[in-house]
Amino acid sequence: MRKKIIAGNWKMNYAVNKADEFVNEIKDRINTNEVDVVLCPNFVSLERISDLIDDSNIKLGAQNVYFEDKGAYTGETSVDMLTSVNVKYCIVGHSERRKYFNETDEMVNKKALKLLEKDVSPIICVGETLEERDAGKHFDIVKEQVEKALQNIDKEKVKSKIVIAYEPIWAIGTGVTATSSQANEMCKYIRDIIAKLYTQNIADLVRIQYGGSVKPSNAKEILEQSDIDGALVGGASLTNDFVAIVNY
Ligand code: 13P
Repeated sequence: MRKKIIAGNWKMNYAVNKADEFVNEIKDRINTNEVDVVLCPNFVSLERISDLIDDSNIKLGAQNVYFEDKGAYTGETSVDMLTSVNVKYCIVGHSERRKYFNETDEMVNKKALKLLEKDVSPIICVGETLEERDAGKHFDIVKEQVEKALQNIDKEKVKSKIVIAYEPIWAIGTGVTATSSQANEMCKYIRDIIAKLYTQNIADLVRIQYGGSVKPSNAKEILEQSDIDGALVGGASLTNDFVAIVNY
């Protein structure tokens, strides 16, 4: 039985004071053992939020990382810097990073490998555009993203640490949610890819989230699908809606 994992990706929202205020407002209401809850604030708020959630079951996640250990990489953040403030998860390959910052499948793979080296769980984002879906290419696109992201990652790490987030780009921030059957179909397909790369037993242990306009009104239906093990929530994670989603 896979434990659900619900993560809030705050993206570039909330400076430290506001982040602090919001976490204090929702913290006790999302402090549960039923599901794994992860908050992914901006880098500058990580340390503060880490302190605030220290006495709870809520875990800290980052939105990005660099794949080198240290050195002359102006503006970048290493895994050691993340773990120094108790980061346990890190989103990699979000479609916004692929689109605006030219993040490639190869970079996603390098970031995932580096995170795993230091025991941080990568939340690997994959998903197709509307044009790709309309052209019937969505399965091929997602397959390539998953296969490339998992290159050289050993089976122990896959089964214990990897989280995949299926986020169809056309459903992100648009209010258009994939239907629960579209979302489940792709999550199941991703599990089949992992089974082919590793084994069915391993694939059955990997948690696969859905992301894209998840809100209180659709969370329950999505989260009850057979192959959907959680949600990666954007806009709704910035409001009290996140409380309702976690307590779906
Ligand atoms: P929305 O929930 O705002 O559609 O964003 C989804 C997302 O990109 C989470 O990473």
